[in-house]
Amino acid sequence: MARKKIALIGAGQIGGTLAHLAALKDLGDIVLFDIQDGVAAGKALDLAQSGPVEGFDAKLKGTTEYKDIEGADVVIVTAGVPRKPGMSRDDLLEINLKVMEQVGAGIAKYAKDAFVICITNPLDAMVWALQKFSGLPANRVVGMAGVLDSGRFRHFIADELGVSVEDVTAFVLGGHGDTMVPLARYSTVAGIPLTDVVKMGWMSKEKLDQIIQRTRDGGAEIVGLLKTGSAFYAPAASAIAMAESYLKDKKRVLPVAAQLTGQYGVKGTYVGVPVVVGAGGAEKIVEISLNSAEQKAFDKSVGAVESLIEACKKIAPKLA
Ligand code: APR
Repeated sequence: MARKKIALIGAGQIGGTLAHLAALKDLGDIVLFDIQDGVAAGKALDLAQSGPVEGFDAKLKGTTEYKDIEGADVVIVTAGVPRKPGMSRDDLLEINLKVMEQVGAGIAKYAKDAFVICITNPLDAMVWALQKFSGLPANRVVGMAGVLDSGRFRHFIADELGVSVEDVTAFVLGGHGDTMVPLARYSTVAGIPLTDVVKMGWMSKEKLDQIIQRTRDGGAEIVGLLKTGSAFYAPAASAIAMAESYLKDKKRVLPVAAQLTGQYGVKGTYVGVPVVVGAGGAEKIVEISLNSAEQKAFDKSVGAVESLIEACKKIAPKLA
């Protein structure tokens, strides 16, 4: 069987880490694309030289030409600019929307059969625009946010309780922003819902609320520490988990920014929901029942994404 091909559009902090992880996991051959001359080629060469040490055979190529992504099975998009301290993800909208137009055209021309994972922020609006600009079917264009947000939630819970991260599951719905909705009653420690963990007295309600807020602010906390960019290890690991589920048809149920077609009362907008990810891309959107407080928080989050989409339509009228 021919090796799979993974194209990474954007060879910055996340792009380089994606390439490293994809190579270490032997997911396929890797093409790194960037508009900045030499960055992609330099990282590809550096990573290729780690192959003999690590024992991977993945071929790595750096390029500034879209034709090199031809026939890619998976395309992961991080092209654009990241946040600086004091900036919200939404501040990136105008610049990154233009980038999505170029990337969408490149994918449409050379990789129209790929599964596309967008990471560029503001995520829910950018993945919506990328699907439109590329013209690929919505089940093959998804956004990475929920795996990262739930990873942050899981880390904080496991750390607080002193238990293995493996035994903590977390459920985060909604847009990748300050309005994201971490759901305590669907998040568990070894199957015990966090609401019961509080009832048992294992964690206080105040601590859980603090953790939920810290999860919402998880990206900003890292931007504040790094000062010159945003998080990259956990975002890259999260997108690789999605790519792996697609390439190996694992059918994992992951929180993914997917285009809703009426689920949760939403049509056309991309927002974070549980999705079965397999060889068919976003194969199934899982619709859970929400109580009234959760539905209200979800609706608020969807409203925030919709206002960003409206802003995109004003900047690029052809998206309307
Ligand atoms: N086409 C291709 N690459 C581009 C383009 C473009 N039009 N514009 C910018 N780039 C490249 C830059 O040259 C840079 O190498 O995208 C790369 C982005 O890398 P970083 O600046 O290191 O940003 P990173 O931390 O990887 O984050 C990328 O993901 O999480 C989001 O908010 C984050 O939107 C940001 C994106």
